[in-house]
Amino acid sequence: MSAVKLSVIYYSATGTIHKMAERLTEAGKQAGAEVRLRQVAELAPEEAIASNAAWSQHFDDTKDEPKATADDVVWADAVLFGTPTRYGNVASQLKQFLDTLGPQWQQGLLADKVYAGFTASQTAHGGQESTLLTLYNVLIHFGGILVPPGYTAPLKFTDGNPYGVSHVTGPNNDAPLTDAEYAALDHMAQRVVRVAGRFKGEG
Ligand SMILES: Cc1cc2nc3c(=O)[nH]c(=O)nc-3n(C[C@H](O)[C@H](O)[C@H](O)COP(=O)(O)O)c2cc1C
Repeated sequence: MSAVKLSVIYYSATGTIHKMAERLTEAGKQAGAEVRLRQVAELAPEEAIASNAAWSQHFDDTKDEPKATADDVVWADAVLFGTPTRYGNVASQLKQFLDTLGPQWQQGLLADKVYAGFTASQTAHGGQESTLLTLYNVLIHFGGILVPPGYTAPLKFTDGNPYGVSHVTGPNNDAPLTDAEYAALDHMAQRVVRVAGRFKGEG
């Protein structure tokens, strides 16, 4: 059977979600998948980006990376979507990308794929769960197969998020990812690839 096709599609302003996406990409490859790592287009006005040094830096560092297209979802057997928590919600940049997928949704091209999500927030109770659940509303409309990590491995009791994988960036928005979070990212990628492999070829 051919390799599972995994797309990791994300928005990141200051680099946290970008780092998580890179780790998921590596873990997906290790699990035997063919992986596309794609950022969605930045939509914020230049002055908003310029007002935040970390945002400007990350924008400059990643502006030439491949941008997500509808084909990156249609192509995939599994998709991991990443977004910073914005007012307890999905970032508008990722939502805008999702909102361009109407034609593919209408043709049923987004259904029957395995999906899960990842996020980050500045504070521990700042809305990670509501962000992931809001993202999952969209994936339900796709007719997607939601494969959140749950507590399917002992390590999930350490990072503690059954809804996906998440990180708290802290007061200065720069707290590094922890070993438990890296392990949770690896586990989510492995699980999504494994489950997508089971569905592949079953029509
Ligand atoms: C407009 C805006 C809204 C935000 N809303 C929240 C929030 O509701 N809860 C929270 O804890 N952090 C919030 N944050 C902080 C971001 O979630 C945090 O900076 C982000 O997860 C970092 O990810 P990134 O480095 O990939 O951009 C917000 C930040 C911005 C700019």
